[in-house]
Amino acid sequence: MDRIRIIGGNELRGTIPISGAKNAALPLMIAALLTDETLILDNVPRLADVALLQRILGNHGVDIMSAGKRPGDHEYQGQTLHISAKTIVDTTAPYDLVSKMRASFWVIAPLIARMHEATVSLPGGCAIGTRPVDLLIMALEKLGAEISIDGGYVIAKAPGGLKGATIEFPKVTVSGTHVALMAATLAKGTTIIDNAACEPEIVDVADCLVKMGAKISGAGTPRITIEGVARLHGARHTVLPDRIETGTYAMAVAMAGGEVQLSGARPELLQAALDVLTEAGATITVNNDGIKVARNGAGISPVTVTTAPFPGFPTDLQAQLMALMTRAKGASHITETIFENRFMHVQELARFGAKISLDGETATIDGVSKLRGAPVMATDLRASVSLVIAALAAEGETMVNRIYHLDRGFERLEEKLSACGANIERISG
Ligand code: EPZ
Repeated sequence: MDRIRIIGGNELRGTIPISGAKNAALPLMIAALLTDETLILDNVPRLADVALLQRILGNHGVDIMSAGKRPGDHEYQGQTLHISAKTIVDTTAPYDLVSKMRASFWVIAPLIARMHEATVSLPGGCAIGTRPVDLLIMALEKLGAEISIDGGYVIAKAPGGLKGATIEFPKVTVSGTHVALMAATLAKGTTIIDNAACEPEIVDVADCLVKMGAKISGAGTPRITIEGVARLHGARHTVLPDRIETGTYAMAVAMAGGEVQLSGARPELLQAALDVLTEAGATITVNNDGIKVARNGAGISPVTVTTAPFPGFPTDLQAQLMALMTRAKGASHITETIFENRFMHVQELARFGAKISLDGETATIDGVSKLRGAPVMATDLRASVSLVIAALAAEGETMVNRIYHLDRGFERLEEKLSACGANIERISG
């Protein structure tokens, strides 16, 4: 299994191109199941999760063509996928595929909406606490699906098709909102999703569905209204930039020092995180090409942060912020409210000499003046990248083991960081 070796201490200077958002690309690819025409997606990141989803969709009979590079294309440009679900040959998503990536469970929505049946294995994914699908099932039941669970599989049937309904989520759920939104596009009548997730990736998927002929209003607000249509058609859509990748590199610069242009980043997608970085002592400048992040000489100030659904501080940047705070001058407090148990990075950060104590959902980080490189590993992709951030500022060598999770969510991480001066390399095998 590949590893990443980092020798800490170098400042970061240069430009990092921001890739398309993994968490938009995955549901967008899944949305292609809603139509028998071709959906063309531009700026799809080259990630292990995208490749895995291609296999999962292939299992349903979906044909995916990845367009090659043209002369003049930027080397970091994402790929263009032509996805055609002309004929769905199988409405079952098997355990051996779904268990590798939680988001693949979401195929249940377009399959039940278009084919009126779906059999999908209960999901797996990152080890970040129990991640149930009860709210996804509740949403599909509201739309008229009959659901049973047998042998680890969710079996959904809607012989006459789905029917519009009001779905009120008791808590904000990104997965629940994606599933309700996709399923409702082909339901008969009007669906209202209340307490919907407002994440930019939901808006991106809704924008694409509208291009495909769906009638949706209110995406990006807590109430989304969908008028069902009889069929959807093909469309072309560009995946929005990855706000979590943007925030991750911004924190890497704040940690290592220096000045980096995050090219293609959109500040409004992560304002809460940028505000926290400014409070921590980084200088953030918005320009025509994205965001410039700098920390030249000044120390890192401690912060108190609680994760929250969008537009709050994202749980997917919690581990990276914690890594940064290990070097702050004073005590920081980070409270995780979205996922219980999303603290696997705490014991790994301790290997660098970080001082972190946990009390329920809150971590207290007492900043130290020095971190020392160490062998580390993590089983969640955001936790893994937090170890890279710590390593950039640690004395000596860090070996990040089991980087499979990094490859799931960060496109060419070591190339992007080494182009800015980091001493980082992938060791194969
Ligand atoms: C999405 O996960 C993201 N994944 C996660 O990113 C992200 O951390 C999360 O949203 C929150 O922003 C993708 O987009 C592929 P939820 P999701 O449904 O949709 C509970 C990453 O690192 N819940 O909003 O699965 C759940 O347990 C990943 O890229 C139920 O109780 O998250 C959690 O506490 C990790 N029942 C809360 O809701 C349900 O049926 C929010 O989960 C569904 C969720």
